[in-house]
Amino acid sequence: LFSAVEMAPRDPILGLNEQYAADANPNKVNLGVGVYYDDNGKLPLLQCVQAAEKALMDKPAARGYLPIDGIAAYDAAVKSLVFGTDSEPVKSGRVATVQGLGGTGGLKIGADFLKKLNPQAKVLISDPSWENHRALFTQAGFEVGSYRYYDAVKRGINFDGMLADLKAAAPGTVVVLHACCHNPTGYDITPAQWDQVIATVKAGQLTPFLDMAYQGFGAGLAEDGAVIGKFVAAGLLFFVSTSFSKSFSLYGERVGALSVLAGSKEEADRVLSQLKIMIRTNYSNPPTHGGAVVAAVLNNPELRALWEKELGEMRQRIKLMRQKLVDGLKAAGVKQDMSFITQQVGMFSYSGLSKEQMVRLRGEFGVYGTDTGRMCVAALNSKNVDYVCKAIAQVI
Ligand code: LMR
Repeated sequence: LFSAVEMAPRDPILGLNEQYAADANPNKVNLGVGVYYDDNGKLPLLQCVQAAEKALMDKPAARGYLPIDGIAAYDAAVKSLVFGTDSEPVKSGRVATVQGLGGTGGLKIGADFLKKLNPQAKVLISDPSWENHRALFTQAGFEVGSYRYYDAVKRGINFDGMLADLKAAAPGTVVVLHACCHNPTGYDITPAQWDQVIATVKAGQLTPFLDMAYQGFGAGLAEDGAVIGKFVAAGLLFFVSTSFSKSFSLYGERVGALSVLAGSKEEADRVLSQLKIMIRTNYSNPPTHGGAVVAAVLNNPELRALWEKELGEMRQRIKLMRQKLVDGLKAAGVKQDMSFITQQVGMFSYSGLSKEQMVRLRGEFGVYGTDTGRMCVAALNSKNVDYVCKAIAQVI
């Protein structure tokens, strides 16, 4: 039965974790996967999460099946966070939100639904994009192409190229856009450029799918989420996947969501009924704990304020590490201007290092980043940053 099964390549991101775990180098640093570590190199357990968990444990509850679309209070909290509590889409009831297994789960539910809705559509992702975007939409049955995004020569965004590619897309094309903190490059388009993208998407009758995995890691929760309001104001109907893996440091709980903005409440109800089929036939219904914790935090003003404070601290520490990286590289003798690292936002820096250099960093120094040169600056700390800088200086 299995004699013809081929060995699949390792996952380009999560596969590095396996390699890192097996590395005996005592100085090893994992800048591969997008995970935030504190200044002691520890994965944080947020205080808001601990408080919510304590409250849940104080009133132990049996675990029945959740509804197919998840915890109602969770879905409502996600809608408010993504669109705004008093926003027209939330008030009119034209958002269908389902709890998903992380942001990836939200993307997959949306991809499966889109495939059923519009089987001929093509999907466009940014070049480059999160490695799993192409794989996930391909797996859902789509032909996946790309629109220009990163300009390696000028170290920034090829906005004219991006716009030209979106303009050339056929009506109905699904366009996957990073709402903030572009993964892997760390370069976001400006609000004025978003306006142009939105006008192009609208004129071309494209279907926007916003991936919002890093809300709060760019300029702030509201600032990073502002792009959603722009899409709403333009009268577009669209998809948004949400992840709380990073913003709540709840990676292993797989807490995320998919929201679909429909034209009316009645349309949203029909969309929701279809999303529920996607869920039911994949994993039946979501798990309880992570969603209960996030709902408890988002729906309690004190815990919500504590979360925003803790998220702000993570964001600030990442910014500090970007500066330390720039300074450290200079001190380690790197002659080229590396200040682009502080212009990038979110968890990642697209370093511009080649695959060969990344392989050397791993093999000779135990410094792990992806082959594409992406490094997770959120895993740097005051103890490992100098070591990382010296290692990079050696391979440049
Ligand atoms: C990443 O890009 O490293 C994260 O989004 C984790 C993942 O699932 O790939």
